[in-house]
Amino acid sequence: MTAQLLDGKSLARTIEKTLRDEVETFAKVRGRRPRLVVVLVGDVAASGSYVKSKESAAARVGIDSEVIRVPVTTDTLRLVSLVQGIAQDTHGPADGILVQLPLPAHIDTLAVLDAVPADRDVDGFHPENAGLLSQGRPRFIPCTAAGVQRMLIDAGIETAGKHVVIIGRSDIVGKPLALLLSARGIGGDATVTLCHSRSADLPHLTRQADILIAAVGHPNLITASMIKPGAVVVDVGINRVETDGTSRLVGDVDFTTVREVASWISPVPGGVGPLTVAMLLANTVLAAELRLGQT
Ligand code: GUN
Repeated sequence: MTAQLLDGKSLARTIEKTLRDEVETFAKVRGRRPRLVVVLVGDVAASGSYVKSKESAAARVGIDSEVIRVPVTTDTLRLVSLVQGIAQDTHGPADGILVQLPLPAHIDTLAVLDAVPADRDVDGFHPENAGLLSQGRPRFIPCTAAGVQRMLIDAGIETAGKHVVIIGRSDIVGKPLALLLSARGIGGDATVTLCHSRSADLPHLTRQADILIAAVGHPNLITASMIKPGAVVVDVGINRVETDGTSRLVGDVDFTTVREVASWISPVPGGVGPLTVAMLLANTVLAAELRLGQT
């Protein structure tokens, strides 16, 4: 069996088309466009390139965006006060505020993220948004987790009653995904196992998955022998590896061998990544509409 591809890039373009219409309606009613402000600290190449793709996707759907670049030498206090200022619209209307992660090690990441008000938190990282998600009444859902669920729904992959095994317990991906996929309703109702670096006998756990989601940031960790034949495999990993002097992106899944065992597989690049960006745009439109009192 060769797996069917979960084409995140093409789904993201479809989502963008719908968002473009919503943005036009918003602009007509409000007299301005939804606006996203991104804070980028330092000059890590990967973060810079993620932010660029967020900027160009925003432009494609008509969302205004601004990237505020901050030198790596900044400190927690200055960063917190910058975010507080953005939240008071001192850098123009900020419907959505996003601080690109990871922040440099000397910065208190949680202090900075907590400075983003819950109603502008398009990343869905604020404790209030995490709490709402855990209670089954989500507002802003973390973008990658929302993207994975959307990808499964769009492909017509049933989650109800299925065993989903997630590898990686991050606040950004693993934890919110576990909540989303086990919640009641469409794209949910799954039985979820959340694995992590201390899980015993990972291959034993992954072989039980009807749907396996890898989100650890470890190149090619998941090999064919760890997959139940016919399983759905979603690869959230984005790892840059060097081979023969050239650099390329690979996921957490050994794509070439696993695609021969799985029924569906998401590629890297072109899988979950574009959906993460599309969900960020959707959250930004939602944030703008919430401010306008439309929803
Ligand atoms: N860095 C990697 N993924 C993300 C994300 O979803 N949001 C933010 N803010 N930073 C990230």
